[in-house]
Amino acid sequence: MICSIGAFAADGESIMLHGGENPAAMPCISCHAPDGKGMPSAGFPRLSGLPAAYIEKQLHDFRLGSRQNPVMQPIAKALTDSEIIAVANAYAKRPKINVLKAPTTPPIPGSGGWIAQRGEWSKNIPECTLCHGPDGVGVGNAFPPLAGQSPLYLESQLLAWKGEVASAKNKKASPPTRHNDPNGLMQHIAASLSDTQIKAVSEYFGTLGDSTEAFDESQHRLR
Ligand code: HEC
Ligand code: HEC
Repeated sequence: MICSIGAFAADGESIMLHGGENPAAMPCISCHAPDGKGMPSAGFPRLSGLPAAYIEKQLHDFRLGSRQNPVMQPIAKALTDSEIIAVANAYAKRPKINVLKAPTTPPIPGSGGWIAQRGEWSKNIPECTLCHGPDGVGVGNAFPPLAGQSPLYLESQLLAWKGEVASAKNKKASPPTRHNDPNGLMQHIAASLSDTQIKAVSEYFGTLGDSTEAFDESQHRLR
């Protein structure tokens, strides 16, 4: 009996290790690390424990170009729909972020922690934890965790939504390369923050979490 390979369900764990059927869909582990926690110094994000629906959405966004990245776009285009579902579900089953260093003291006005927990209401920016959950652990399928990602990655995403505005020093404006957020929520936030504020809030969330301990389900809730 002849069976086409496509008739078999895609195996998410195998895609992580060996890549998809199309060789252009490179093994995820080579950049997102064997444990799926990413490579902080290179700015490669953590995928372990992210919601399956969020991962699927991002891969479709890379395909569509509403999220532009020279590395991930060709990989997402090379994955089949069933491979996307399989690999997203496999990563979602991996350990989630656990907040190890939750702040115990109130944030200092103007600091990264302040923007994260109180927002910047003079610019209509709500606190990040409103959507991203207490300590940035993420909420449901739509609001990804920020804790557990590296400061470098978080900053790169906020800058991707912001784009570069032309100035006296920097004459060439570059438009945002990420515009995949529902209702432009993140675009408004990123565009309203200064680059210094973006760095500070990325540093804050980027140093909060890790998943070396068992995941505490009670952390995943809306306030
Ligand atoms: C050659 C390196 C490389 C490989 C291989 C790779 N990625 Fe990525 N991935 C990246 C980079 C870099 C980013 C950040 C892109 C950006 O800045 O938008 C990323 C981002 C992502 C994101 C978005 C995460 C988030 O928090 O929004 C997903 C999902 C993803 N990759 C899935 C995969 C999957 C699944 C595979 C394997 C089939 C894979 N990647 C293979 C480099 C890689
Ligand atoms: C009103 C809700 C809301 C608020 C408030 C909010 N976010 Fe988000 N954020 C989102 C949504 C929705 C996404 C996912 C967008 C997508 O699907 O790509 C997101 C994604 C992100 C990402 C990308 C994560 C990744 O894995 O690629 C970063 C970084 C981020 N937000 C930072 C922040 C920061 C910093 C603040 C506070 C200054 C903040 N957000 C406030 C809704 C919000």
